[in-house]
Order: sequence, then C-alpha cells, then structure tokens
Amino acid sequence: MNWGMIGCGTIGERRALALPAGVKLVSCFDPNQERAGKISGITGCSIAKAEDEVLDPSKVQAVLVATINSAIIPIVKKACERGLHVLVEKPVARSFSELSELNPGKSIIKVGFNHRFHPAFFDLLSEIKKNPDDSIMFIRAQYGNGARLGFDQEWRSKVELSGGGELLDQGVHVIDLASVLLPELSVMQGYSRTHYWNMPVDDNTWGILANPQGATFSFHVSSSEWKNEFRFEVYTRQRKYQWLGLGRSYGPEKLFIHKMKSEMGPPETEERCYPSEDNSWLAENTNFLHAIQGKAEVNGGYRDALHSLKMVQDIYANSMKLHADLKRREQHPIWWQGQ
Ligand SMILES: NC(=O)c1ccc[n+]([C@@H]2O[C@H](COP(=O)([O-])OP(=O)(O)OC[C@H]3O[C@@H](n4cnc5c(N)ncnc54)[C@H](O)[C@@H]3O)[C@@H](O)[C@H]2O)c1
Repeated sequence: MNWGMIGCGTIGERRALALPAGVKLVSCFDPNQERAGKISGITGCSIAKAEDEVLDPSKVQAVLVATINSAIIPIVKKACERGLHVLVEKPVARSFSELSELNPGKSIIKVGFNHRFHPAFFDLLSEIKKNPDDSIMFIRAQYGNGARLGFDQEWRSKVELSGGGELLDQGVHVIDLASVLLPELSVMQGYSRTHYWNMPVDDNTWGILANPQGATFSFHVSSSEWKNEFRFEVYTRQRKYQWLGLGRSYGPEKLFIHKMKSEMGPPETEERCYPSEDNSWLAENTNFLHAIQGKAEVNGGYRDALHSLKMVQDIYANSMKLHADLKRREQHPIWWQGQ
C-alpha cells in the first residue's frame, strides 16, 4: 500500500522509521527541505514541492500528517475530500471547535494516540477486563518533560500555532488513556498556570475529571518537570495498577500490579518489565494499515480526539474562571470572605 507524508519533523521521522511490512512511503512534503530530505533518505520516497502533490489519490491511499498544530486541519480536510485515509498526530486541531468542523466522510481517521500502543497499557487493559467485578475507583497520572534551551520560542509556545500549552501537548495523552478506561469522563476542575517559561500558554496544568458513577481521574502535566516522567496509576477496589515509564528518557517501562489480600496489610506485588525500545509507533501504524484493510477497528480515532479536545476546552474554561475568581478575591477581600 502506498502512503504519503506531510510534516517531516521529529514525529514524522518516528513514523517513517516504523512503517509496517507491505507499506511504501512514496512521497513527502515539508516546507523545510532538509527535513523532507531526511525522510526521503530513510524511505527512498520522492520529495514533493507542495502538499497537493502528496495528496494525490492516483498515487497514495493514505497519508501521515505530522505538522505543527495550526497546519493540520486544512490538510486533513483536503485528504478526506479526496477520499484518502489519514493517520494524524494528536491533538489534530488547536481546539474542539476547529476539530468539530471536520467531516471525515468515508475516510478512516486514525489519531496518533501512540500511548495506547505501549505494552504496559495493553496488559493493564487486559488485567482490568479479566476482573470485571473489581471496579475502578480512581486514576491518577503524572506526565512531564525536562527542559531544552529555547523551548519558549518554539511553535508550541505560540498560541496561534499550537492552540494551547502543556495540556494540549502531553495532557491529551493522559486524558485519552483515562478515557479508554472511563469513557464518560467530564471535567470537575481544571487549573492551568505558566510557572517558568516566558510564553502565553500553560506550562503546567492540573485536572480533576469524573464519570457519572463518580470514578475520578486526576492528573498533572508539566513542561517544567526537569527530569522526564510518566506515571499512570489505576486504583480498583482490590488492586493498584502502577504503570511507570515509557522507555528511553522516561525510564524503563514497567507495570506493577499490587493486589490486596483478604486480610489486607501489605499487598502481593507482581512486576512486569518491557523492552526499552519504543515499539508503539510500529504498533500504531500497523493498526492504521489493518483498519484500512478491514482487518481491525481503529484504536483511537476521530471521536476519541473530539472527546479529548472537549475535555481540554472545559479545563481551560474552568481554569480561566478560577483565575478570574482569584483576582476578584484579591480586589474585594471582604466580598469573598462572606461567600
Ligand atoms: N504522539 C506523540 O507522542 C507526539 C509527540 C510529539 C508531538 N506530537 C504531535 O506531532 C505533531 C508534530 O510535532 P513534532 O514534535 O514532530 O514537531 P516538529 O516541529 O519537530 O515538526 C513539525 C514539522 O511540521 C512542518 N510544517 C509546518 N507547517 C507545515 C505545513 N503547512 N505543511 C507541512 N509541514 C509543515 C515543520 O516544518 C516541521 O518540520 C504535532 O501535532 C504534535 O502535537 C505527537
């Protein structure tokens, strides 16, 4: 099957290095010629002069889109109008309303939620399925990255290009993972701040979400974490599942399953370790291929992206209200003491 690529940066390169057997990347486009050249060097594909050359249904059946956030939706719209299938990186759009305008038609939209394809998450899901009577009480997540010079000058820090900060960058991953386990989450409270970087978007966000039955998801995402960290913990009535690490700079990927004994006290602990190599990109690309071939359901698609962007919208709205309330309290201390 022939695929094309638009956007040949860090993530475009990861996708190009993880093409499934039977897929050929035939063309790529990036306004940065050097980056397009690197993808061509990896895959042998031709370098297009414009995105329209890549989006040619007589040459490709599907396209990988990994551009900056502001460029994504016009490209995906065009791809869908031409009947192409699309694997597009999260968050897909800068906002819920921008994404809502997309009409996928008959195209398959696979969203790059690669964290779903980590082996620890597959194991976690399968353990939870094996124990249907052991219901989830709450989920807790922490995700953050260390620093690089000039971070606050990159496209991620410019609201018109990114749509938002850390919440939209790493936050959507943990929101998406929690939503797989608790599909009906809605936002109870959100709080975004810019603590460190000189930029108009958040570098830290906290959220509390819950489903109608009261199962709760809390998270903190940070781009002033200094040492990369990922943890995702699911607490059921009888177990604590602790997924730590994503491999590489995020530390070894492990799943701990702590099971309470009937007499309580210290639980029994099982530790599972996974290869340090991150195979989630290949697994996700393969899911996209199989979905096009009708062999698998899309694991993480358009509806999932819409849900995560709705949560992002509600968290930012909630946070803005909180900041306005705090300001009012500072200005009118007597008023708020009586509330
Ligand atoms: N799944 C993940 O874990 C993960 C991780 C990081 C980034 N992402 C997502 O991947 C996307 C790309 O992020 P990145 O880290 O690779 O950024 P990047 O800056 O490394 O690459 C973005 C590329 O897009 C190109 N570009 C800009 N405008 C374009 C246009 N109109 N047409 C074609 N190319 C264009 C840029 O020249 C650049 O090469 C973003 O949407 C980001 O949110 C996903």
